[in-house]
Amino acid sequence: MKKIVVLNGSPHEHGCTATLVNEVIKGVGSQGTVVKSYHLSGMTIKACQGCRACSEKGRCVQQDGMQEILDEIASADGIVFATPVYMWQMSAQLKIAVDRLLPFLRPGYTSSLESGKKVLLAVTQGRTETSLFRHYFEHVGNNLLFLGFGSYKILIAGGTRQPEDLVNQTELLEEARQMGQWLVE
Ligand SMILES: Cc1cc2nc3c(=O)[nH]c(=O)nc-3n(C[C@H](O)[C@H](O)[C@H](O)COP(=O)(O)O)c2cc1C
Repeated sequence: MKKIVVLNGSPHEHGCTATLVNEVIKGVGSQGTVVKSYHLSGMTIKACQGCRACSEKGRCVQQDGMQEILDEIASADGIVFATPVYMWQMSAQLKIAVDRLLPFLRPGYTSSLESGKKVLLAVTQGRTETSLFRHYFEHVGNNLLFLGFGSYKILIAGGTRQPEDLVNQTELLEEARQMGQWLVE
């Protein structure tokens, strides 16, 4: 049984980002795959305190919602990091979760993650030019490779202010379903 973990960093549980993720999940399919979704904005996840306890213990000492997410990522085959673009970047909710991935980084810049995990960066943005922030998300993706994730792809929906703005973007929605398939291949 494959497992996909979704971290949605949008404050809107049923917003544009969630709509894009839903299409990715259609591509994942329901046969033989379990999908665990987290709406980060509705969870208690504190920012990394930089205490470095995780470098000794291998776990974060902050007992909050991130504990479960770290365990789920450790046993997942694919992870969707989903976010609206906020000020040319990922949302603060997702950035806090990304910082909290530090326990996967082991001494000597090795990783405790099993190899081969696939990452999809699923992004929505108000601006229509989807090339605008791609370099930033490549930077994010490369950081995730450094943390020990196996590979990443980027999916960007442009011109989205409300979920309905995605409805007529048929090519993009098809790309989203293909990304979902890729996650479980
Ligand atoms: C605080 C804030 C900052 C934003 N910054 C950008 C931006 O820098 N570039 C952009 O294209 N869209 C920006 N947007 C628009 C959102 O990225 C876009 O509408 C997104 O699809 C909303 O997704 P959601 O419905 O999941 O919240 C911003 C929106 C907000 C509220």
